[in-house]
Amino acid sequence: MFLKDKVALITGAAGGIGAAIARLFASEGADLVLWDLAPVESLKAELTAATGRKVIGAAVDITDPDGVEQAGREAEAELGRIDILVNNAGITRDNIIFRMKPEEWELVLKVNLFGPFNCTKIVGKMMAKKRAGSIINISSVIGLRGNAGQANYGASKAGLIGLTKSSARELARFGVRVNALAPGYIQTAMTDKLTPEQKSEIQKQIPLAALGTSEDVAKAALFLSSALSGYITGEVIRVDGGFAM
Ligand SMILES: NC(=O)c1ccc[n+]([C@@H]2O[C@H](COP(=O)([O-])OP(=O)(O)OC[C@H]3O[C@@H](n4cnc5c(N)ncnc54)[C@H](O)[C@@H]3O)[C@@H](O)[C@H]2O)c1
Repeated sequence: MFLKDKVALITGAAGGIGAAIARLFASEGADLVLWDLAPVESLKAELTAATGRKVIGAAVDITDPDGVEQAGREAEAELGRIDILVNNAGITRDNIIFRMKPEEWELVLKVNLFGPFNCTKIVGKMMAKKRAGSIINISSVIGLRGNAGQANYGASKAGLIGLTKSSARELARFGVRVNALAPGYIQTAMTDKLTPEQKSEIQKQIPLAALGTSEDVAKAALFLSSALSGYITGEVIRVDGGFAM
């Protein structure tokens, strides 16, 4: 087991990629803190029954600094510490720039960039005190190469890479590593919005010729959260079948 008795906090845990990370981390021996706006009760019950690990869940809006601070303190009080933070919660509000409403721009930046900042500030401080920790930011290949119709999302995910590298430099002296994953097109509720024609067009551009799965992303998150990546910080790993190389 790669995460025996570690404590991992996952945001957006009710979603496709978040739930896959939670399942893999629990099966690797981690206790879990699951945060989402959506209910996490059924996932919590499933993982407790399947693995016997301690799992706590909370309705947390990551854009609310006070709510994040309170929930972070509650989690630390209940489980003793947090060793791993996965900043996974994220949203899209796609539109071409000429039609994009200020609210669409603002909300995506708020959830995808301000949210991870709030969580890093609170949980990173807890990790720094323990002189250990691993933070994994779920960015996107869209943050690396851009995408028409996703100016807000691309800017938020590129910003998240900047946050990753800056916090990696700040927190290294405390033994805390910070890395990012840049998934390509992964089959989840987020990509279910694509038409079959769009999906087949995208598939043609992927050297490994298939959309990825949430489990593909979870395995990379396991690598970055465990001692296997102990000498890696400030790195961005694509999980995209070669799409953005
Ligand atoms: N699916 C893909 O193809 C893909 C590709 C690259 C990157 N990503 C990124 O992976 C992450 C997970 O995506 P997914 O595909 O599992 O999406 P998803 O929509 O299935 O899950 C996202 C979760 O985040 C939660 N969330 C939204 N706003 C929140 C807030 N303010 N506070 C707390 N939780 C909030 C949602 O309730 C949802 O459960 C996102 O950051 C996304 O941008 C996804």
